Amino acid sequence: MYLNPYPLLEQALLSDNPDEKGRLTQALFAQLGEAEGLTIEESKPVDCRFAGHPLCPRLVVPSEVTPRKMNTVEGYAAMLHAIAHIEFNAINLALDAAYRFRNMPFQFVRDWVRVAKEEVFHFGLMRGRLNSLGYDYGDFEAHGHLWDMAYKTAYDPLLRMALVPRVLEARGLDVTPGIRAKVAQRGDMETCDVLDIIYRDEVGHVAIGNHWYQHLCRERGLEPVALFRSLIARYDMFIFRGYVNIEARERAGFSRFELDMLEDFEKSLKQDKKAV
Ligand SMILES: [Fe+2]
Repeated sequence: MYLNPYPLLEQALLSDNPDEKGRLTQALFAQLGEAEGLTIEESKPVDCRFAGHPLCPRLVVPSEVTPRKMNTVEGYAAMLHAIAHIEFNAINLALDAAYRFRNMPFQFVRDWVRVAKEEVFHFGLMRGRLNSLGYDYGDFEAHGHLWDMAYKTAYDPLLRMALVPRVLEARGLDVTPGIRAKVAQRGDMETCDVLDIIYRDEVGHVAIGNHWYQHLCRERGLEPVALFRSLIARYDMFIFRGYVNIEARERAGFSRFELDMLEDFEKSLKQDKKAV
């Protein structure tokens, strides 16, 4: 059976109800599991400045997110809410990758819908932890930073793979162990278990991003390491700021050689900026 996944993908992506988005994603994953390939699709993807999200949380620019101290229940809930929000965005980002880039192989669509399904699971788990504290998703404000990058990279799957999974999602590998340590210090072992699941799965998601980044570079005859350096400079992004989880990044498909080159390159960029 050949499948046209795009109508359902569009519905899932634009759905502003997290439960419905989750159900549609799971239905799509099941359909793709049984399909042998994709039908030829003539329609164009919709251009969405915003993917479907509930009215709450209210989206603000990152600097306007009210800082909260983790030593109060409210502050702790706000921190869990921020993680739930990242997971919610990750559902949309994965659905959008599967939906938007129409000339990619069947396996690309399958991979990103599988990622979306895992993000639905993460979101549900983190929402459950919030609920256990008497809060829910939408109770705090949140920022739209992750989706902004999706919008900026909507015209090219190579750019998307380079900057979303390999930069933004890979950042999650750096910060999760530190967050887990703080959560463990509070004695909240149930949330630690959720973070362990998220961390384990995120290595796989970054690996999928790496796989397709390499695939697209090969297809276009581009040198992946040099291209990546020029992209992070052009988009003013960075890898080496704060703790970088080399071990997890290597498991996710970054080579030690590339990471060393990037670190040197970013150092020289910083020095150039200082010199200006
Ligand atoms: Fe996730």
